[in-house]
Amino acid sequence: MTTITVWGNRGSGSPLSRQELTIAPPGPDEVLLEVLSCGLCHSDLGHLDEPLAADAPPVVAGHEVIGRVVAIGSDVDPARHGQLCGLGFIAGTCRHCSYCLSGRQTLCASFESTILGRPGGFASHVKAHQDWVIPLPGGLDPSSAGPLLCAGVTVFEPLFSAGVSPTAHVAVIGVGGLGHLAVQLARAWGCEVTGVTTSSSKSAEILSLGAHQVQLLSELNQRQGTYDLIINTSDHALDWDAVVASLAPGGCLHQLGLCATPIPLRLFPFVKGNLSFRSSLTSTPANTARLLSFCARHGIRPLVEVLPMAAINTAIERLRRGDVRYRFVLQGPA
Ligand SMILES: NC(=O)c1ccc[n+]([C@@H]2O[C@H](COP(=O)([O-])OP(=O)(O)OC[C@H]3O[C@@H](n4cnc5c(N)ncnc54)[C@H](OP(=O)(O)O)[C@@H]3O)[C@@H](O)[C@H]2O)c1
Ligand SMILES: [Zn+2]
Ligand SMILES: [Zn+2]
Repeated sequence: MTTITVWGNRGSGSPLSRQELTIAPPGPDEVLLEVLSCGLCHSDLGHLDEPLAADAPPVVAGHEVIGRVVAIGSDVDPARHGQLCGLGFIAGTCRHCSYCLSGRQTLCASFESTILGRPGGFASHVKAHQDWVIPLPGGLDPSSAGPLLCAGVTVFEPLFSAGVSPTAHVAVIGVGGLGHLAVQLARAWGCEVTGVTTSSSKSAEILSLGAHQVQLLSELNQRQGTYDLIINTSDHALDWDAVVASLAPGGCLHQLGLCATPIPLRLFPFVKGNLSFRSSLTSTPANTARLLSFCARHGIRPLVEVLPMAAINTAIERLRRGDVRYRFVLQGPA
């Protein structure tokens, strides 16, 4: 067994504290990463807020890890020892179901999340299956690259997998951790890009990220029939009629924000306009590797505020208030 240091809580949004845990050594197909840094995603908050059974181990969030491989299982190529890698929301899949074999691993029924039922990246070390531990290409700054592993690849998926045309007009609703990367990626993809925000104070920054224009969310009803793709990273209840009406014929609303309330969509505009609604959970290892090299090539980097891991409670409290431009990265050692 290996002793690791983690920042965990007892669920229900309680503060995190520094603790020690023991974990088994890597299985044949696993690697152990020494965590150098880890981004704080909004999804971590939901996880830390869940009620926890009295006898359950602490909740350890963190799934935007940059780390170095310090131990490997028997089936892992020894060349991976010492490699600088990233790890996102998924830490393993079965490798033999039809989804895994056809490169759609996020649909694997037995996927293991980095943070569900196991300690995640707000720790000294984190374990994962080798396929999901992605080598970091040169040209990316390891100290800011962590958010690409969840936020980045999550917003890459709607562009890449749907084969979005560079002539498309893409709107990004919610310019936060996910959204600020979506704006940069859609711009580099060649698209016309509109950042749709509730925060007029972000306008200049959204333009500097590459948006061609900024639209206030409250004024979306002025943009009827405009967008070929909406990447919605907001998890709030929106004026859904206005959102749908802003789609161009044949357009797609791609919902990424984990909206807790039902999304009431009228069917008629979808039928008449040949519209579609899609959603997705993060993306595959192959797409993560593609995203990392795309970002290295286009100079796309997360805008981060780096804090020591011991300041994680401050980061959580500020993220809850929306007080971050645009992602916290907690730097080790834990
Ligand atoms: N599908 C997936 O695989 C996946 C992966 C990661 C995260 N997520 C989910 O995606 C969502 C966003 O995550 P994140 O880390 O980007 O969060 P975040 O950094 O907190 O950004 C969320 C953005 O939502 C916007 N917003 C805030 N209040 C709003 C309101 N009242 N109405 C409309 N929009 C509002 C803000 O942008 P403006 O200031 O520009 O309005 C804010 O920056 C979360 O629900 C998270 O759980 C999903
Ligand atoms: Zn995430
Ligand atoms: Zn599988």
